[in-house]
Amino acid sequence: MKIAVLISSRGSNMQALVKACLAADFPAEIVAVVSNNPDAAGLEFAAQHNIPTKVINHRDFDNREEFDTALSDYLSSVKVNLICLAGFMRLLTPDFVNRWRDRIINIHPSLLPAFKGLHVHERAIEAGARFTGCTVHIVRPEMDDGPIIAQAAVPILSDDTADTLADRILKQEHRIYPMALRLFAENKVKIHGGVATIEDAEQSELAITNPIVSD
Ligand code: GRF
Repeated sequence: MKIAVLISSRGSNMQALVKACLAADFPAEIVAVVSNNPDAAGLEFAAQHNIPTKVINHRDFDNREEFDTALSDYLSSVKVNLICLAGFMRLLTPDFVNRWRDRIINIHPSLLPAFKGLHVHERAIEAGARFTGCTVHIVRPEMDDGPIIAQAAVPILSDDTADTLADRILKQEHRIYPMALRLFAENKVKIHGGVATIEDAEQSELAITNPIVSD
């Protein structure tokens, strides 16, 4: 399966996906790392790993639709089968999402459907939640919405700040994103309406039913 990873800055999730794809038995290959931000730090890592990089700067376009058309045309030109959003900080238009329906996945640093949007760690702490975590899901036109592929639960400790919590969640993101990508590339993710199931009992345990409590 040919993958494009879309980033906007640091790209640590992209790095986790790149490392996973280096394994000989991994069923996916990253054919492009695309950024809307020419200064994204992750671009250098991708180039060092001989992965083609592409900048499509949203500032060069008059509106969201034109940017998304350019992005979509580029992804088609490199024959991508799946788009992985990894810290890509642009909302995609419904036209783009529908054109690539069931072929876009995203990682979000909360246990969706709780805490969609930005500043999720602060909001989880302020809400007094005992657990938060991260989610890999199939992308639908609504922000941070769509069938869930994998989640990891992370406890919120009494002395957590947004930064300490973000660090612990990020470790779990780097673990579950490659796992979810593998399941997807092996065609084990089945979508029924708004819900995804995993067609592999052992993997299903890992990806869905077991909350994973980190240190
Ligand atoms: C991650 O927390 C991801 O879940 C969110 O944005 C952050 C991006 O981090 N969507 P990185 O660029 O992957 O390091």
